[in-house]
Amino acid sequence: MPIFRVDFHHHVKGDPVDLISYTACDLIDSAVLHGIHALAITPHGLVFHDPEARSYAEKKGILLIFGVEKRVEGKEVLLLNVSPEEVPAVMSFEDLKELRLQKGKALLVVAPHPFYPTSVCMGEALDRYGELFDGVEYAHLHLPFYNPNDRAVEWARENGKSILANSDTHSLFMIGRNYSEVNCAELSIDSIFQAIRERAVRPVIHLPSFWEVFRFLMEVSVFQSLIRLLIPSRNGDPLAQKC
Ligand SMILES: [Fe+2]
Repeated sequence: MPIFRVDFHHHVKGDPVDLISYTACDLIDSAVLHGIHALAITPHGLVFHDPEARSYAEKKGILLIFGVEKRVEGKEVLLLNVSPEEVPAVMSFEDLKELRLQKGKALLVVAPHPFYPTSVCMGEALDRYGELFDGVEYAHLHLPFYNPNDRAVEWARENGKSILANSDTHSLFMIGRNYSEVNCAELSIDSIFQAIRERAVRPVIHLPSFWEVFRFLMEVSVFQSLIRLLIPSRNGDPLAQKC
C-alpha cells in the first residue's frame, strides 16, 4: 500500500484574518519541493475554492482540497472538502452535525491545535462534540518543555481518533516540517479520508528550533498584531489573489 504525505492546514494570501505574503500557487510549488502529495487550504472563516489553483496543483501532481478554518460557536474547526454554499456564515455544532449527515464520508473534520491555551481552541468542548471529529491536529508550535499537543495525543488515543500533524502555514518556511503519512490505495479524497478514519496515519513531527519559534512569533504574532492595530478593518479574499 502506498504512503502519501498530507498537510491539511494552510493559509494563503488574501486570508480574511492574517496577512500572508504567498499565493496558493507559491504554496503548491513549495509543497512539491517538500514531497507533499495532498494539501488543504483553510482560510479563516472563508472557504477556499479556486478552481485555477486546483488545476495548477493537478499539473504539479498535488491533490488540493478546498477547506476552511471555521469558527463553530466560537471554536476553530477545520472543515475539509467543502464548498462555500455548504458552510453557513454563522455556524453552530448543530449545523456541523447536519453537515456531517449531509456529506457523509466526503467531509473530514479536524480540531486544529485543540488544547492550546486560547478561547478559540476546542479544549474541553472536544469531550462534548468528539463524535463530530475525525481527528485532532498536532500543531507545529511547541517547545521541549511546553507542548499542548501532548493532551491532543492523549485525547485522540482515548477516543479512537487520528492525529494529524499540520503546518498551519503562515510563512513558507513552515512547510515540510510537519505533515502526516497516510497509508491508502490512491491519491484521492475518498481514499485518504477513509484511511484517516481508520487511523492508517502517522504524524511526522519536527520539533521547532528556538529560532523557528522566534521567527514565527515575530512574523506571525507581532507583525500581525501591528497590522491589525494599523488597519483594523482589513478584509481579505484568497480568491482575489491569483497565482
Ligand atoms: Fe490556522
